[in-house]
Formats: sequence, C-alpha cells, structure tokens
Amino acid sequence: MCGIIGYCGPRAAAPILIEGLKRLEYRGYDSAGINVEHDGAFQLIKRAGKINDLRAHVPEDLPGHTGIGHTRWATHGSVTDTNAHPHTDPTGAVTIVHNGIIENYQALKNRLEAEGHVFVTETDSEVVAHLVADMYDGDLEKAVKEAVSLVKGTYGIVAMHIDEPGHLVGARNGSPLVLGVGDGEMFLASDVTAIIAHTKQVVYIEDGEVVSLTADGYHTTDLRNNTVVKEIDHVSWELEEIEKAGFPHFMEKEIFEQPESIARALKGRIDPEYATGHLGGLNLTNRELLDINRVKILAAGTSYHAGMVAAYVLESLARIPASAELASELRYRNPIVERNSLYFATSQSGETADTLYAMREVQRKGGRVLGICNVVGSTIARESDGGVYIHSGPEIAVASTKAFTSQLTALYLFALIMGRMRDMSYEQGRRFVEALEAVPQQIQQILDDTMPIQALARKYARCENFLFLGRGINYPVALEAALKLKEVSYIHAEGYSAAEIKHGPIALINPDTPSFFIVPDDGLRDKVINNMKEVKARSGPVIALAVEGDHEVALIADDVIYVPKANELMYPFLMVVPTQLFGYYCALERGCNVDQPRNLAKSVTVE
Ligand code: F6R
Repeated sequence: MCGIIGYCGPRAAAPILIEGLKRLEYRGYDSAGINVEHDGAFQLIKRAGKINDLRAHVPEDLPGHTGIGHTRWATHGSVTDTNAHPHTDPTGAVTIVHNGIIENYQALKNRLEAEGHVFVTETDSEVVAHLVADMYDGDLEKAVKEAVSLVKGTYGIVAMHIDEPGHLVGARNGSPLVLGVGDGEMFLASDVTAIIAHTKQVVYIEDGEVVSLTADGYHTTDLRNNTVVKEIDHVSWELEEIEKAGFPHFMEKEIFEQPESIARALKGRIDPEYATGHLGGLNLTNRELLDINRVKILAAGTSYHAGMVAAYVLESLARIPASAELASELRYRNPIVERNSLYFATSQSGETADTLYAMREVQRKGGRVLGICNVVGSTIARESDGGVYIHSGPEIAVASTKAFTSQLTALYLFALIMGRMRDMSYEQGRRFVEALEAVPQQIQQILDDTMPIQALARKYARCENFLFLGRGINYPVALEAALKLKEVSYIHAEGYSAAEIKHGPIALINPDTPSFFIVPDDGLRDKVINNMKEVKARSGPVIALAVEGDHEVALIADDVIYVPKANELMYPFLMVVPTQLFGYYCALERGCNVDQPRNLAKSVTVE
C-alpha cells in the first residue's frame, strides 16, 4: 500500500528518497514521485509505473537537501502521472504526500472549488495540499494542524512549504508514520524499512500527533498544541535482513528461511520442566488464563488462515471453544464481547486496517485483545493489551509465507499453555513440545529437495483453474494454498474442505482443472482418499500432498509430493511449505512479478 519517505539533512535528498522508495516497493504501488526543495523552488518529479521509471527522470545531481517521496497504490483516481504524489496547491507553495483515505474529500473539494480553487488530480489527497495552503500564515505546523482538523478519514501526511526550507511536518491518523533520528539529519517514513539503512533510532508517531522536524531536531505535539514527549525506540532489524541474500526473489528467500524463523519464534518459549510454553508478553496471570472460556482470533488473509488452524489446535489441546474471525466482518457485526473471552489480533504487519479497527471495536466494548505481530512497534503491537512477537524477521515479499508458520508457532505455544492448564498431561505436553521442536528440521528436509515441486509446477503452470482440498486442521491449509497460487501466479484457485466438493464444486471437475489434495495420515485420511477417487472418476487430474510411505495415495493420484511423517497437529506446517513453493514456481513459469503481484499491497492500511 502507499509508502512515504521524507528527508532533511546535509546530504542530497533525491538519492535518499529514491532509495527509500525502493525499499517500500514491497508494499505494492502503481506510481511514485518525489519533490525536493532547492534554492527557494520545488523540483517535482512523479510518474505512473515503477520506481526505476521515476529514477530515469531524476537527474543524478538533483540539488536540494530536503524532500518528500511517495509510492501510490491507487484508491481515488486512475494510475496516471498527474494522480501520483507528491501533490501541490495551485500556487505550488505547499507540497504533501498522503497515505490513507480522506472520506470527506468531496465535500472539502466542493467548498474549495466554490472559493476558486482549481484541482488538477482525481485524488482525495490533493485537498490536503489546498487546505494547508489555505490555512498557511507563516507557520507550516499550525497550518497542517488546522488542515487535518477538517479532515475525516485516515492519513499519514508529510508536508513542506516553500517559505520554510529544511522543514517537514508530519501528521498521523490511522496510517503509520515513523520518525528516524539520525546524526544531524532526520527522516520520516511510513515504514522503518525505508530508513534503517540510515538510522535505527526511531520514534513512532501515534494517531492525533504531529511531528515537526529539521535536520537538527524535532518536536511532537497533539492537534491542540500540547507537547507530547516520545521515547526513542531502537529497531533490531539488520539491513541484510531486508535484502535478498543471493535468492532471486524475496518470496523464495522467505520460504527458505522458515526452519530458522520457526526456531526463532520458539526460542526461549518452552518450559521443559513443566512441558509447557512460556509467553512473556501475554500480561495475564495463570488465574486470569484459567478464567478464559473462549478464544477468538481476528485477522485477514493469510493471518486469518493461521488463525483457523490455531483455533482447531486450541480446541483440541485445551478444549476451549475457539474460532478465527475475519476482522473486516467482525467490526461491522456489532460483535458480542463476553467477559471471559480472549481475542488475538493476528497480523504480520501489525498495520492492517481491518484487523486494527476490529481490535479497537472489541477493546471499546471492554474486551481484552492480545497482538500476534511480526513488525515490532507496529500499531496493533502498540495498541493491544499485550501479545507475542513472532520474530520472523522482515517479510518483504507481498505474499506472506514465513509469517504464517511463525504465527502458527506462537499460537501453538499459547494452545500448549492453555492445554497444560486444563486437559493435557505432562506426558502429552512433552510429546507436543517434541513434535513442535521437530518442525524446523522437517521443513528443512522438504526444502532440501524442491525438484519434485518444480517439476509439478512445470507440468501444471499453464492450467487456468485449480482446486485445493483438505480437511480438518488442513482445511485452512487448502485455503492458504489457493490464496498463494492465485496471488502470485494469477491462476484461479479455490480452497475447499474436501468433503464439501460434492456439495457443488465437483461440477467444476474436468481434465483441465487439477485438484490438489492434502492427505495427512490422520483420522480423516481415508475420507480424503475417497474424495480423491470421486475426482478421478470424473477425469479430473489429481495431485496429492501426502506423508512419506503412503503408497496407496500414489496409486490414485497422478502426481504425489511427500512430506516427512509427523505428529498430526504439525501437518499444517509441513503441508503449507510445498504449496508455497508450488505457488512460487508456477509464478516463475508464468513470468509473473513474484514479489510484487499486480494490484496487491503488503500492508493493507485502508478498509
Ligand atoms: C497473503 C497476504 C495477505 C495478508 C493480509 C493480512 O499472502 O499477504 O492476505 O495476509 O493482508 O496482512 P497482515 O498479516 O499484515 O495483517
């Protein structure tokens, strides 16, 4: 989704802005631009298309030490050079970049037009530049505050005024904004990845706050001008972690990192003496945990699928009713929030608007929401009542992979804690811990030989439709596999419970529509095999993802991929990895932009 970068300091601004925008590419965008101040004039360059196109239009020696840059993911108005940010007011004195959506922009625009303002873009964001210019009487910070007070909606904004060289003002409501504190230079960005090459000292700007910065310093206030004292945080990510480390794509790198990222999510969180988990950030006493009689996991997309798996595990280990809820739906359903329910807002980015708003709605009703996040210091992590970081390291590819398995790890540990407080014996806990600790090595085994999966992708990548079918704890894995394939390869794919196909989807079966079955050796295996036979009987190609040693499956399926034998609750980890690889290799076969699929954004900060 849209990205922001701003710089003021002694260095040339343009290269820093372009490099920052490159680092934000992963969020998804369709146009980009920068505006740099030099000698009392702005130099505005913006283009629809990729940052490399923009870079080609920026002179290498573009002078100027203060500037703003933006990657746009179109919401209001088509993808054109004009609609790209930064925007200016009609006199060109004010320039702004904006993330989010100005909900009342039409009313504001009508009013400004009636006063004689002429708009040149179709965007909602342009009104902000006009409003700031309208309010300006020699004090940019004041003008920004007055302008945003009129705005309804979400924003992360950075503004400059031509009469205040070397000065940037940022404001936030609902769209992330982080200040980077350098040595004699300052940065503002929507995401720390844009600035960690320069500084790891950051200040997270909160909703309702405004930050005013020059090369030498900054101050933060609220909209009523009260000073807000902020702490400086230290970002622990290393620059190398957001680079490709020799892999051709971030998606492949991130799939291959999973043995390590799962091990990291487990590190220090197992208590061998009591065969249970230890999650320090829950902020709940054992007595409070004992009182919980329902768990709901709020999430979107891949994180929702992780939540579905985790709900299954929670019910089976701890015998607590648990479910995953689509955050986007829950928020508007007037949810019933019960006293002894515990909610998890599960989000890789920690910025997903649907999940954030659902969390706030539950909190508003008095519910307790814990965060399961990857990005440290993200909004959900900060606003939740406690939580667990999954420690996957930066996930740059738009399609989420390693976050899924690390979210599972964190939630499995929670299920273990709850299970050991209730139904699970020490011995059961010990076996579960052993099985969970074996997962990284088992995934490594899958990653050590990806040839069969590559061959499978070569064989099927030209198909236009796919079904993914699983049952029980692996039903969400089928949903996730379908999501991954459609996102990165643009092949139409549906995930279903294998039991459900007879209720409709079986009508789709034909020789050109492969069915990809997930066949663990659990209690539902024989049922899934029957479903496979039903598809075969209707001339549908069948691919099976089965457990080593299951020769019967090979007699039915056209192609089989094997995963190591494991504890049955661990199969979601082992089954999802080949499907991630399958999606990745199919995308390569089809020449798709794997890391930045069309129309998609990494961090979906609008509703
Ligand atoms: C799928 C994908 C999305 C995200 C969803 C939630 O590959 O990346 O479906 O899972 O947008 O994002 P987070 O986890 O950041 O809340």
